[in-house]
Amino acid sequence: MRHFFKIPALGLAGTAVAMLAVAFAGCSYSHGPEPSPCNDPAPATYAAVVSPIFDAGCRRCHGTSVYQTRGGGTDLGTYQALKAVPTTLLMGCIEQQPGYDAMPKGAPKLSDCDIARIRAWIAAGQLNN
Ligand code: HEC
Repeated sequence: MRHFFKIPALGLAGTAVAMLAVAFAGCSYSHGPEPSPCNDPAPATYAAVVSPIFDAGCRRCHGTSVYQTRGGGTDLGTYQALKAVPTTLLMGCIEQQPGYDAMPKGAPKLSDCDIARIRAWIAAGQLNN
């Protein structure tokens, strides 16, 4: 519930930061198309890239069968459930921005590559596969 009032306050700023990050990333590659994050061979789709990250880091608390007891009521267990979470909230938590619950709770932050993969997946329209 808390995210309903957080988003208007921080969502726009978060989006602006994300757009700036994309703009600057674009400047650093002047030869040919930009590589996918961390030189992955394939685009960051849910099935190939994103779901395994959530399997490893999030679903012991946010899986469909446990999210109500362990994940604070936020279901991240399936593609549909994940797409229903506002992306500003998701990235705020994963990037551990001020004003958001830092995730994964009680564990180290995701790697820079995994964060970049999730960001690229969102930027490309959250493709399933
Ligand atoms: C150890 C259990 C645990 C793990 C692992 C975990 N979470 Fe959470 N998550 C929670 C709990 C509990 C909450 C409820 C808020 C709180 O207690 O901080 C929550 C809340 C959230 C929320 C909603 C925040 C809000 O303000 O509504 C999001 C989004 C989220 N987690 C994403 C993630 C992501 C993405 C990962 C993996 C990178 C992850 N979580 C890993 C336990 C976990």
